[in-house]
Amino acid sequence: MKILVTGGLGYIGSHTCVELAKNGHTVVIVDNLSNSKLETLDRLTEITGARMAFYRVDVTDYRATAEIFAAHTIEGVMHFAGLKAVGESVEQPLAYYYNNVLGTITIAKLCLEYGVNKFVFSSSATVYGDQASPLYEDMALGQTTNPYGETKAMSERILTDVTKANPRFAVSLLRYFNPVGAHESGLIGEDPNGIPNNLMPYVTRVAKGLLPCLRVFGNDYDTPDGTGVRDYIHVVDLALGHVAAFENLQPGVSIFNLGTGKGTSVLELVHAFTAENGVAVPYEIAPRRVGDVATCFADASRAARDLGWRAKRGIREMVRDAWRFESATKGTKGTFPFVR
Ligand code: NAD
Ligand code: UFG
Repeated sequence: MKILVTGGLGYIGSHTCVELAKNGHTVVIVDNLSNSKLETLDRLTEITGARMAFYRVDVTDYRATAEIFAAHTIEGVMHFAGLKAVGESVEQPLAYYYNNVLGTITIAKLCLEYGVNKFVFSSSATVYGDQASPLYEDMALGQTTNPYGETKAMSERILTDVTKANPRFAVSLLRYFNPVGAHESGLIGEDPNGIPNNLMPYVTRVAKGLLPCLRVFGNDYDTPDGTGVRDYIHVVDLALGHVAAFENLQPGVSIFNLGTGKGTSVLELVHAFTAENGVAVPYEIAPRRVGDVATCFADASRAARDLGWRAKRGIREMVRDAWRFESATKGTKGTFPFVR
């Protein structure tokens, strides 16, 4: 099928483009390059052998996006395009509501106008708020604690209402847990600008000597070693979850957690990184980060039952592939000063 992938040059979108191509789909990418590089398109060609159609367009621009729908017979959409930094969303709420909510509305509207009934949406475990883990899809949406999370909850509600009004519309809301790792080729991976907010890219940059020391945010949580527990999922498994969700789309809304169902603490991840890669990661214990919960992991059984999908790669593969990508990456990342 011909699938429009919004945000397809970003971290998760690019890995999904690879798996879609491997599964015989034709990919059309739209990305405004606000958080990605054109070079990734060449990397996708290198990995897949296929040159994917690419449009540098902002998906909040209805007219420009409509031209893509007019130029291609799009049969389904995967909507990844969005801003994703929690802290930034608190400082710039309008940018987040505008980009993420308007982007979802624009893409959904064009789907209806062009008769595209298959829609996969990048949601997040953040929509559960601080409810106790394991988190189940049937739980009510929780109290989101930041504008980013609110854009995901709002987009979920909007897409749910659109399917109620358009019974042929098939939407899969995919709630990701903590995506980490990189493609095994080392050619694509997570490459955030500036100082990373997330744990794994921070760890890899400390390991590479680009940052002096990891700060572990709290060791007094009610967890086995006191540090925060999360459900890390290899980005290639996550990408495969998208292919499974797309190929099993049913009219109406379906919701799936994409996680492993297994929690790993910050220190467990750091120790696994050092053991697997033989590289030290200096760290210090710092105060808790505002807004963090102690524990967050999925109940992943619905995706296994309904999609026949489950994450196969473990923490060792995640830390190995993250490090392979970081070791291979050259660029601007080393130029920022050692500040926190
Ligand atoms: P990313 O920033 O690497 O990728 C997003 C891509 O979308 C980027 O290439 C960016 O340039 C593009 N983009 C942003 N706004 C756009 C717009 N208006 N028009 C066109 N392109 C636009 O992020 P990612 O980690 O790959 O995340 C993909 C999606 O998954 C996002 O919606 C994100 O909120 C969601 N998500 C990510 C995580 C995570 O931890 N990475 C967790 C849960 C959900
Ligand atoms: N952590 C540190 N030091 C750091 C960075 C993180 O100790 O420098 C800890 C955090 O306190 C937390 C764990 O590592 O315990 C994971 O933190 P991340 O920032 O990597 O991920 P979060 O779980 O906070 O958030 C991620 C995404 C969100 C998404 C959420 C959904 O960044 O966008 O998962 O579960 F909403």
